Amino acid sequence: MVNICNVNDKKRIIELGTLINQNFSKVNNIEELIKENNIIGYYDEDYLVGFIIFNKLYEVIDLLYIVVDPIYRRKNIGSILLEYLINNFIFEKIILEVRCDNVNAIKLYKKYNFKIINIRKKYYENKDAYVMELIK
Ligand SMILES: CC(C)(COP(=O)(O)OP(=O)(O)OC[C@H]1O[C@@H](n2cnc3c(N)ncnc32)[C@H](O)[C@@H]1OP(=O)(O)O)[C@@H](O)C(=O)NCCC(=O)NCCS
Repeated sequence: MVNICNVNDKKRIIELGTLINQNFSKVNNIEELIKENNIIGYYDEDYLVGFIIFNKLYEVIDLLYIVVDPIYRRKNIGSILLEYLINNFIFEKIILEVRCDNVNAIKLYKKYNFKIINIRKKYYENKDAYVMELIK
């Protein structure tokens, strides 16, 4: 089930986020993101197993993170979260950055018609990143 995350999810969001970025809780103000309704969660019963974090400025959505618990991957949860973002928010475009070697995430984005529009050299600790965009 998909829902907007609330303050009770904070600990679990940090737990999942820290799996992909050690500094996750330092570089992101999770409380503020929750308050602004900027985190979409996927729940197995009441247990948060994946989320999307985004920012929205006017008609542009910046997709900051999409993370699924490793045990729950390849079960369509990433797709469901991304579809929720695409179908429930008004936007002109969604923008994101992804490490060029993150083939799983890139496949997921391509499945929803995101296109590579730029390459940022040495964006992540010496790894290049693609800038990808979905135009409505
Ligand atoms: C990227 C991520 C969110 C995908 O979540 P998921 O729930 O496993 O994704 P889905 O099951 O919906 O798969 C969607 C598509 O992605 C691709 N994909 C995802 N994982 C894959 C894998 N291990 N191998 C091959 N393709 C994969 C496939 O094209 C898949 O579509 P298909 O099942 O129709 O072939 C998940 O792997 C993850 O949390 N990764 C770590 C965090 C990360 O790197 N996030 C992106 C940058 S913030």
